[in-house]
Amino acid sequence: MYTVLLHYVRLFYAYKYVYEQFIQSIQFTSLIVVHFEFIKDQCQRKYTTTMNHPDMYNISNAIQKKAAIQCLDEFGKKINWSNNGDNAVDLGCGDGSVTNILKKYMPRNYRKLVACDISEKAVKYANEHHSDENTSFRVLDIEGELPEEMRGEFNHVFSFYALHWIHDQEKAFRNIYSLLSDGGDCLLTFLGYMPCYSVYSVLSRCNKWESWLKDIDLFISPYHTMQDPDIKVKEMMEEIGFRNINVTCKEMLYVFDSVEAIKNTVKAIEPFDMPKDVYEDFMQDYYAVAQELGLMEINNNNVGESSINCSYCLLVVCASK
Ligand SMILES: C[S@@+](CC[C@H](N)C(=O)[O-])C[C@H]1O[C@@H](n2cnc3c(N)ncnc32)[C@H](O)[C@@H]1O
Repeated sequence: MYTVLLHYVRLFYAYKYVYEQFIQSIQFTSLIVVHFEFIKDQCQRKYTTTMNHPDMYNISNAIQKKAAIQCLDEFGKKINWSNNGDNAVDLGCGDGSVTNILKKYMPRNYRKLVACDISEKAVKYANEHHSDENTSFRVLDIEGELPEEMRGEFNHVFSFYALHWIHDQEKAFRNIYSLLSDGGDCLLTFLGYMPCYSVYSVLSRCNKWESWLKDIDLFISPYHTMQDPDIKVKEMMEEIGFRNINVTCKEMLYVFDSVEAIKNTVKAIEPFDMPKDVYEDFMQDYYAVAQELGLMEINNNNVGESSINCSYCLLVVCASK
């Protein structure tokens, strides 16, 4: 009797052991699955250096609009308008609000203004808000293959605040050359040194943010840390065949009237598409690093409000074909 009982007790523990192993293996498998999903998610977190939030950009792009007006006032005189039905293209138009500003600098009898962006969302938004009988918006990748009907079609090529998002600079500049008709000209502005890129670089090296910022180099202007970017751009353009090339590194100052204004501007263009709570945390660290590096000058007035100065370099290119 005792031996039989002992046998059942042993059997019980044997089954218990097998059962526990089974449960553990299930837990382990689900852990692996969860972990795998996490890794897959991290690997698939691909930057889209395209406009994700045209509606948000539309209300947070004062810095870009101000820069476009300054450049059009200062360099617009170099544009050789024919005043006889000019055709123009605006590359990387985003939400279309700067295209709308550009229209005011064009002769009233311009024939067509085609504004392009790689982001379908941005083009849809721009078409809904800024198109008219002579102005249209379409999807186009500046560094892709050009549609045949656009080659040599434009007297003027414009691009504001967009070319620093392009990875293959030479291809983009070759395309600009191809879009121009003989004797046509271009006015292009894009970022050189910009303090926010240095902040991204620092944050990308800390554990907390490295997975979010792992491909940050794709987002940082290729001219941010380049020595003499104006000379490099000019050399590239000469090689392509442009004439009358003038490249200026324009020192710009923009005063944000609050920390909130900086957050909104950064959010409107950040490529990571962070969820709101992650973004709040990110911006806390972003602002702390910017202060630590002395990249933003904070002015406090005597009623406790602060404004923040941001100095950066805008490359402004004028040239003709
Ligand atoms: C910062 S926004 C500038 C928008 C507008 N030009 C302005 O001054 O406010 C840059 C735009 O370039 C677009 N972009 C990025 N890569 C592009 C590409 N390869 N081809 C066309 N547009 C591109 C983005 O989608 C984005 O809308």
